[in-house]
Amino acid sequence: MIRLGVNIDHVATLRNARGEDHPNILNAAKFVMKNGADLITIHLREDRRHIKDNDLKILSKFKSIPINLEMACNKKMLNIALKAKPSYVCIVPEKRIEITTEGGLNLKKNFQALKANINILNRKKIRTSLFINPKIQDIKLSKLIGAKCIEIHTGTISRKIKSKKKYQKDLKNIIACCKYANAIGLEVHAGHGLDYKTAKILSKLKEIKEFNIGHFIIGESIFVGINKVIKKFKKICK
Ligand code: PXP
Repeated sequence: MIRLGVNIDHVATLRNARGEDHPNILNAAKFVMKNGADLITIHLREDRRHIKDNDLKILSKFKSIPINLEMACNKKMLNIALKAKPSYVCIVPEKRIEITTEGGLNLKKNFQALKANINILNRKKIRTSLFINPKIQDIKLSKLIGAKCIEIHTGTISRKIKSKKKYQKDLKNIIACCKYANAIGLEVHAGHGLDYKTAKILSKLKEIKEFNIGHFIIGESIFVGINKVIKKFKKICK
């Protein structure tokens, strides 16, 4: 069974559109958990375009809600994470002008900073993950950095599947990456751009232990309700 992390960033996007408190983030997290999510994922971006510091503060008080905090690799974010003590941290690259997280981390360039931050988080018993492109070299570096998990950026393969382009080469590469990561003791997660079809294809890979899905879940829930969307993903995750 693959764990399902529901990313509720875009509940905050909707709330922020009015500048008030509806839809409420804590209620969304509780509702999503009640309806079968295994964890809640939030990305506290540098520009705070969706999730705000106060959302993290409020959610952190509820220890029954496992929080996966996505964050950039810098001292300011590290201090925020150490204070909030989420169950999990996934370090992601961040560019202020991008629409979403458009690729994996540059591990080579940021090796020392990542290693230092991951080390501190590991010592605090926060599960650590690195959001990476599906490349063997990046998996090797993730291990050297000391992360416990990797999250494979599935944006490229998802785009190809959705636009009915050939994706077999990408899938073969992801399979090889998953097997290699597993063999060297890294837990494998996957996320970005996933919908029912792409998640179903990737759910066949037994090495993948967790999906983190946001935009599609929130978007689709407009039509059928978030409880039904989660139910459908849980079936895929089985
Ligand atoms: N995983 C990570 C590390 C992400 O940065 C994101 C996007 O914020 C997701 C998963 C979810 O992607 P999507 O919203 O496309 O499902």
